[in-house]
Amino acid sequence: MATILTLAGDGIGPEIMTQAVDVLNAVNNKFELGLTLESGLIGGVAFDATGEPLPEETLERARAADAVLLGAVGGPKWDAIERSKRPERGLLKIRSELGLFANLRVAKLYPQLVNASSIKPEIISGLDLLIVRELTGGIYFGEPRGIRTLENGEQQGYNTMVYSTSEIQRIGKVAFELAKTRAQAAGRPAKVCSIDKANVLEVTELWKQTMIEIQQADYNDVALSHMYADNACMQLIKDPKQFDVMVTGNMFGDILSDEAAMLTGSIGMLPSASLDEAGKGMYEPCHGSAPDIAGQDKANPLATILSVAMMLRYTFKKEEAAQAIEQAVSDVLDDGLRTIDILDRSETGLKQVGCQEMGQAVLAKLVQ
Ligand code: IPM
Ligand code: MG
Repeated sequence: MATILTLAGDGIGPEIMTQAVDVLNAVNNKFELGLTLESGLIGGVAFDATGEPLPEETLERARAADAVLLGAVGGPKWDAIERSKRPERGLLKIRSELGLFANLRVAKLYPQLVNASSIKPEIISGLDLLIVRELTGGIYFGEPRGIRTLENGEQQGYNTMVYSTSEIQRIGKVAFELAKTRAQAAGRPAKVCSIDKANVLEVTELWKQTMIEIQQADYNDVALSHMYADNACMQLIKDPKQFDVMVTGNMFGDILSDEAAMLTGSIGMLPSASLDEAGKGMYEPCHGSAPDIAGQDKANPLATILSVAMMLRYTFKKEEAAQAIEQAVSDVLDDGLRTIDILDRSETGLKQVGCQEMGQAVLAKLVQ
């Protein structure tokens, strides 16, 4: 029997997790998936309870589980504590300890939300792109790092951006493989755009070179292009449909995925999967803990619910169940239900709902 560890975390985490767990239980019953759910602590709530943002017990249970579903971490309450104990460190540590190097962030526009985006409909209609972000290396984890005092008494902050060939190769392979799968499903040629800053940073010069080598050795059937990160930011707004799979390092991927999320109307719609070499994964919405709206029943639970769909697809290979969830989300959008982040006030026939009502509406579609 497979086990899923749920880690609700901070801010809106518990609210969105409640809805996602309801949906997960419903598909578990409907498709007889035999999944067992457990819950644990991470982030600020874990720090409050144990003094650690990622308690050893949580890490052990995450290792033992077949998949992890995470809400969000962080909030102003914990901003002032020592850096190594901050909620975000708990998240980075679980990614790193579990070896979750491949972060998949799908920016797919639901046609019902074409007017909820700040970008013109013709630019984004039909958008479906995948950002493959390296998640356990690069400047997020590079050493040395810190804040030091210089001889003149001034302080200096520093981080190190590092990537070894093997790290680039393994994320590159994930991107090329996914590009092939996506192309096959859509009946068109496969393409990958690798994002770097090779005009300035040696680390990304190696990145670019390694991508070229992998493509030449094993992926002649995938078209590979390269783009500087700053241009990629611009192109995502100008003509996002030129992209299919984008592969990039940890920091550029963090930035580009927020931008890609807004193309789809709201970051509240964007799910993600973080996978290890065996395909085991942690699934989480791309948005953060949104402390400003926490506890007010305003959060959009759809990114977390869609993360459940990704979990069923990638870790448990239950495509039918994954699609059932995605269809249920599409159906509630068809019905005009909108949380405030995806509400277009100029459109008629829409109903503003809270987190709970949105989650329960998805659930109702699944059990009907
Ligand atoms: C994300 C978040 C995290 C990151 C933060 C919360 C540490 O922004 O998942 O994109 O920077 O990776
Ligand atoms: Mg981010």
